[in-house]
Amino acid sequence: MNFEIQKRALSTVIRDDLDALVVLWPTQDAELLASKDPIAALVKSALQHGDFEHKAGSALTLYAQAGVKTRHLVIVSVADGSPSQVRTAVNAAWSVLKSVKVKRMGVHAPFDLTAKTLQVAASTLAQASYSYTTTLSQAKPRSLKWVVFSTPQVLAEQRAAVAHAQALVSGIEVAKEWANRPANHATPAMLADAAKSIAKGASFKCEVLGPKEVSKLGMGAFLAVARGSVEPLRFIVMRYNGASSTQAPVVLVGKGITFDTGGISMKPAPEMDEMKFDMCGAASVLGVFKALGELKPNINVVGLIPATENMPDGSAVKPGDVVTSMSGQTIEILNTDAEGRLVLCDALTYAERFKPRAVIDIATLTGACVIALGGVRSGLFTADNALAEMIHLAGESSGDTCWRMPLDDDYAEGLKSRFADVANVAGRQAGAVTAAKFLQRFASNYPWAHLDIAGTAWRSGAAKGATGRPVSLLLSYLLIQAEQKTLKLAASHRK
Ligand code: BES
Ligand code: MN
Ligand code: ZN
Repeated sequence: MNFEIQKRALSTVIRDDLDALVVLWPTQDAELLASKDPIAALVKSALQHGDFEHKAGSALTLYAQAGVKTRHLVIVSVADGSPSQVRTAVNAAWSVLKSVKVKRMGVHAPFDLTAKTLQVAASTLAQASYSYTTTLSQAKPRSLKWVVFSTPQVLAEQRAAVAHAQALVSGIEVAKEWANRPANHATPAMLADAAKSIAKGASFKCEVLGPKEVSKLGMGAFLAVARGSVEPLRFIVMRYNGASSTQAPVVLVGKGITFDTGGISMKPAPEMDEMKFDMCGAASVLGVFKALGELKPNINVVGLIPATENMPDGSAVKPGDVVTSMSGQTIEILNTDAEGRLVLCDALTYAERFKPRAVIDIATLTGACVIALGGVRSGLFTADNALAEMIHLAGESSGDTCWRMPLDDDYAEGLKSRFADVANVAGRQAGAVTAAKFLQRFASNYPWAHLDIAGTAWRSGAAKGATGRPVSLLLSYLLIQAEQKTLKLAASHRK
């Protein structure tokens, strides 16, 4: 999907040859209604007859209007133009237009659209018009290819917002695509190929390690999870360098369990299909790299993805087995279904070599996090207050929110083992926190944060599917970092 922004008056936009035109109508419309163009007259009459209201989502659907070149015309109220009202309005307009074949669509705001509102409008349209097609034999590809925003004023800020939205939407759609694919269409090797092709398209580096290299590195915890699967594991290393090589990178680590049966500690059958989504952390890292490649911000980012299936088998790891992680710590695997933390802990140790300024892991880690926070906010765990604040802020400003959870040492009591340095599970209580406490043992050499996205990365039931979260949050965080560095650099040049 492509977005564009133009500085235009409504009186000229109505002469454009588009497949559909959506006009966002504000509540403060005295000046607009006073104008002579045909749309003002239409709205005036509809308001008088009570057929149109100043209420977000109220829509006038018109066809082949005199004076308007585009056949499909939708006038939709955005009320006061807040982000959530714009979201409602755009969804309402799309629900009218989705049955029409719209390839090139105009979205006109006859008032000043803020950068934030533009982003919301673009990402809402992308979300509304998305549908998964890869494994459907009769699927129609999405018809909407171009969205031309227009507004009377276009400043650099709005142009940047459209570029950001464009990259964000590509990133989210990469994440959704890989997350939605069934596990037999998204094996560890296929994920690695996806990473390579994203890297190639944007000319950054991508290295893929297989079982041999991973054994050599001593990733005993990651290897233990992969033992039961016939699909060979992959360890994906992506490197985006947008700043000088002396600048410490941010490392993103995505859990890439392409299918989680639970292993020997097997999960019950109902809804087990949803465990194809257990690589949503990995998918979000791929999505962020896709967006970085398009936006090219001034920052260094490393992406690490430990990818494997978690399967039961004659050679699978067994409850009670003790393995040695790359860090040297031994782990008693009491429950083979707590596999995410096992693949992540070795990736966290691997991350040390980049001397990172921060490491963020993203994982569909615990059912307990779904119980704690549901599908609204992701769980955020970090002992670093500054990092917590920045990630929280990135969540608020992107609408892809998270909530900080505790990490008191008392929560680690249950992880004690008589047979190893640490056990991979504690009791039933505070399961999202004890999982984070396990990870924290492997992340002591740099500022670290963990996002548990088990509740937010996909929806169940009739609307089953990946959400693309937390690509927005992560991209916002990285762009804030890049901006801060640019500012600092400018300040040091001035000295
Ligand atoms: N991938 C699951 C977590 C999960 C479960 C996410 C349900 C979304 C919905 C993870 O690997 C897992 O199985 N975790 C266990 C941990 C337990 C054995 C300590 C869980 O949450 O039940
Ligand atoms: Mn599991
Ligand atoms: Zn899992």
